[in-house]
Amino acid sequence: MTEVTLRAARADDIQACAEIWRESINEYTGRLNQHPIPDDLGRIIRLHRHLFATDPGLFVVAERAGRIIGFAAAVRREQLWFLSMCFLRPAEQGLGLGRRLLERILPPAEDGAFLATATDSAQPISSALYSRYGMVPRLPLLSVSGYLTQPEVLPDLPPGVIAVPFETIAAGPPGGPGHAELTTAVDALDRELLGVAHPQDHRFLRVEGRHGFLYRDAIGATLGYGYAWETGRLGPVASRDEALVGPIVSHLLRAVEPRGAQALWLPGAAGPVIELLLRAGLRFEDFPILLGWNRPFADFSRYLPISPGLL
Ligand SMILES: CC(C)(COP(=O)(O)OP(=O)(O)OC[C@H]1O[C@@H](n2cnc3c(N)ncnc32)[C@H](O)[C@@H]1OP(=O)(O)O)[C@@H](O)C(=O)NCCC(=O)NCCS
Repeated sequence: MTEVTLRAARADDIQACAEIWRESINEYTGRLNQHPIPDDLGRIIRLHRHLFATDPGLFVVAERAGRIIGFAAAVRREQLWFLSMCFLRPAEQGLGLGRRLLERILPPAEDGAFLATATDSAQPISSALYSRYGMVPRLPLLSVSGYLTQPEVLPDLPPGVIAVPFETIAAGPPGGPGHAELTTAVDALDRELLGVAHPQDHRFLRVEGRHGFLYRDAIGATLGYGYAWETGRLGPVASRDEALVGPIVSHLLRAVEPRGAQALWLPGAAGPVIELLLRAGLRFEDFPILLGWNRPFADFSRYLPISPGLL
């Protein structure tokens, strides 16, 4: 068989990578009688473009005879290295190629980075492979979605807590004082709760059209932030006080009119919020995703990630 070569990805590889992503997931979910990924690859292509834009050196493809057969992509956010994607065409799996792709983009041991990723609990091979590098599955990440059949169980924001749309704070030209104030507040929350700041991902969320809200107390101190989107998707959410995560999520669920069902990713550490949203009518969807890391870096009781592909 022709030799497989690994090379840095190019922008025009992204369509093929999105197709491999769909093909390899549908192959194992199909065996489990789960519903296939819809044909529209727009969302994943936009995510791949973002990964490629921020970390072109950490996006690699495997090629045989000019055909792309797999790829891996990671992002570096300060001291956190996060493996976002690693997918091979079904016929290429279990032959050591996933390991080669991974080793091509892993930081050197002496770098000291936190290593993290998210895998599907429905198939063990990726979790096993990444565990060999310390990224052991440690926390479920649950897909919670549906309709608010019991919205009355959702709490209001406590008295004195104010939700301010990002656009209100960052009014005026880019680079103006409002933008700096917002970035400073959000970065500080991220460093405290996620362990790292990731302003480039916040820019991506805003370009995608997600609506951000900053939560402040009566004297203007920042308590948290969160995003909601007309697609029905919520997150990420960050809150200094664990008791405020539920009220923030409740506010977000009502802040933006969704076009259909609502959905968010909830780490198992955010137990009270999971309980609240199930009581409100949302449901668990699919097998849990597993968050894995080599050393603890975040507080997932107070930080709800963007998705399994981008914390
Ligand atoms: C995940 C994926 C990229 C891994 O690539 P791969 O080429 O199949 O994996 P490799 O052959 O390089 O390595 C797998 C390793 O896990 C080991 N392994 C596999 N199943 C295992 C299990 N159940 N328990 C323990 N180890 C296991 C293999 O023995 C191998 O280790 P070795 O090299 O020491 O023998 C590929 O299988 C894939 O695309 N899967 C479907 C899509 C997917 O789930 N992607 C990951 C999403 S995060």
